[in-house]
Amino acid sequence: MNVLVVVESCFSNTHRFAEAVVMGLRERGIEVRLTDAADQDWDLTDVDLLLLGAPIHNRGLPNRLSRMLAGTQGASPKTFGVAEWLDGMPEWAGGRAAAFDTGTGRGFIHGSAVNAIAKRLERHGVELVASERFLVEAMEGPVVPKQLARARLWGTALASYVGKTGETARLWISSKPK
Ligand SMILES: Cc1cc2nc3c(=O)[nH]c(=O)nc-3n(C[C@H](O)[C@H](O)[C@H](O)COP(=O)(O)O)c2cc1C
Repeated sequence: MNVLVVVESCFSNTHRFAEAVVMGLRERGIEVRLTDAADQDWDLTDVDLLLLGAPIHNRGLPNRLSRMLAGTQGASPKTFGVAEWLDGMPEWAGGRAAAFDTGTGRGFIHGSAVNAIAKRLERHGVELVASERFLVEAMEGPVVPKQLARARLWGTALASYVGKTGETARLWISSKPK
């Protein structure tokens, strides 16, 4: 069973969460390929689950301007992220994906990168079967205590999913797309 993880990160926090999720998946014997969106690796051959991870920027997915803003705050953003990866992905009708986003969660409305991911996936006929949010203390991090442990646990839950299909699979995932 194979999972392709595509992640975008400006200050490295989302990347750390991706590594924790990957650890959980691998603990359960799942083969994982962890890539940065900027690598533009669109090889979905034999992929059972696509996992996308991105920071929330301005209540949605990062874009060129928001990445530039992060750059002015000390981040090292790439110019190609999850939004662009999804825009360029090949047809994968019937494919299944999971997604997570990271954010400060501050303020009344902090938005969702996952929702933006779900909309883009839908255009490719890909179903979002699970989603999660992980928190950072501030724009540049660090991660909120115990959130990496949560990410690892979520990875093990996703692993249970990878070997299954349809409705049965859904029962294994505690966190559904919002
Ligand atoms: C330009 C910009 C806009 C942001 N907007 C939001 C937001 O709307 N909601 C939120 O919860 N966090 C927001 N954040 C905080 C980011 O989500 C946080 O920097 C990110 O989770 C850190 O992950 P990274 O290290 O992978 O970049 C914003 C950060 C930046 C740089």
